[in-house]
Amino acid sequence: MKFFIDTANLDQIAEAHDLGVLDGVTTNPSLMAKEGITGEKNILEHYVKICELVKAPVSAEVISTDFGGIVKEGERLAELHEHIVVKVPMIKEGVKALKYFHDKGISTNCTLVFSPGQALLAAKAGATYVSPFIGRIDDISSDGMDLIHKIRHIYDNYGYETQILAASVRHTMHIMDCAMAGADVMTGPLSSITGLLKHPLTDIGLEKFLDDYKKGNA
Ligand code: E4P
Repeated sequence: MKFFIDTANLDQIAEAHDLGVLDGVTTNPSLMAKEGITGEKNILEHYVKICELVKAPVSAEVISTDFGGIVKEGERLAELHEHIVVKVPMIKEGVKALKYFHDKGISTNCTLVFSPGQALLAAKAGATYVSPFIGRIDDISSDGMDLIHKIRHIYDNYGYETQILAASVRHTMHIMDCAMAGADVMTGPLSSITGLLKHPLTDIGLEKFLDDYKKGNA
């Protein structure tokens, strides 16, 4: 299972990268704004910084909603760096653009996916990744994980190569449930990744080993 970090914060990306388990990064316009990255020039430069840091797939989202605009923006983003993945919203014009990018050999991440039908469309259009937002589904008292299970089932039925990128992951249990459900990738905050480290029996066990070593070598 691949681990992507869902942030535009360079320190957090570097921390996850240093841990040695980071396979990529996802960003969105809200995450860029949260870091105070505004203006086209700064935004594009920031994507390049992230790509250079991780040397792995980095999703950069288009803000156009018409086919021509999505294509123009996506091609510009793709030219920025070999690791850019063009993030395209699950709308009619976005589906057309996914097919266009697929035919041009440009990697894509179809974002804002909330139903199995949308995921099926994304796969048929040749998206590299599909991003079902599990946390936001949980937020409205529905079952985000159920969506991952259904998409996995559909993709396996037909052998679609689109990778299921479980997005809007909020905590460690989301990661574990996604791993059980067979998601190809998960993207979440740094805390959801480092949270996997924690177990009280590890801390207790280590303390005892170190104490016993000290006693034996006093
Ligand atoms: C995915 O690529 C999105 O950036 C992200 O996972 C959305 O997460 P949120 O629902 O926590 O904002």
